[in-house]
Amino acid sequence: APDIPVENVQRHLEELQAVAEANGGNRAHGQPGYRASLDHIKEKLDAAGFETTVEEFDQAGTTGYNLIADWPGGDADDVVMAGAHLDSVRSGAGMNDNGTGSAAILEVALAVAAGDLQPAKHLRFAWWGAEELGLVGSRNHVAGLSEAERGQIGAYLNFDMIGSPNPGYFVYDDDAPLEKVFTEWFAAKGVETAPATESDGRSDHASFQEAGIPVGGLFTGAGETMTQAQADKWGGTAGEPFDKCYHTACDDMSNINSTALDLNTDALAHAVWELSS
Ligand code: PHE
Ligand code: CA
Ligand code: ZN
Ligand code: ZN
Ligand code: ZN
Repeated sequence: APDIPVENVQRHLEELQAVAEANGGNRAHGQPGYRASLDHIKEKLDAAGFETTVEEFDQAGTTGYNLIADWPGGDADDVVMAGAHLDSVRSGAGMNDNGTGSAAILEVALAVAAGDLQPAKHLRFAWWGAEELGLVGSRNHVAGLSEAERGQIGAYLNFDMIGSPNPGYFVYDDDAPLEKVFTEWFAAKGVETAPATESDGRSDHASFQEAGIPVGGLFTGAGETMTQAQADKWGGTAGEPFDKCYHTACDDMSNINSTALDLNTDALAHAVWELSS
């Protein structure tokens, strides 16, 4: 897999921040900043040769949207998916939560196109709406799949908060083979990881897991406090939250740790290349 330049991921984040600023300060479900975020990402994917679909769903009388991007080719009976929620909460721009996951999977998708990757398996990327209202977009997507279509998905990888300012390196421990793809990559880089527990059932991977699909993912921590043992391991600040701006107005561009964002994006690219080959 290529080493993804973190500057490219940061550029997408700056664009999402600008979208929020032009739309009342957020990118929340039902607000204009959400659809503008989706249109921005869709445009890049269309230009790169992805087949994109905008799925609509209803959430308490307001229309929500998922963006699905299929990379043409590969075995349609063996699908590898990577997803991130694109909506923010209403209180801010949502740069760490979840501009980071959204921008990272976009840049990895663009790297797939730039390298004209021709994997054995079929690759699909997804940006979910209304995660913050209870995993609504991803639940709608999975509910809309037939039994056969669910069976075709061999792996769903989720990226929600991967650039926390006081980062931990958490790997979802839901499926041992998928967990290993990530933990071995981090170990080779000399970065210690820990199983993600704060994330259990709390992001869009749960929608897939409930349907019996193997799930994996990465996470750098939300509102929980970093312990001294974790600070010794990761070099952060004990007694402070992983993300002190979690779900607040200060979750802006200054709330991102670029080292964490870089490592997690490169790990994500590695997993996409390895799992789809
Ligand atoms: N899904 C939660 C949110 O968006 C936080 C979270 C992120 C939980 C990642 C688990 C994993 O607010
Ligand atoms: Ca990199
Ligand atoms: Zn961009
Ligand atoms: Zn959130
Ligand atoms: Zn989130």
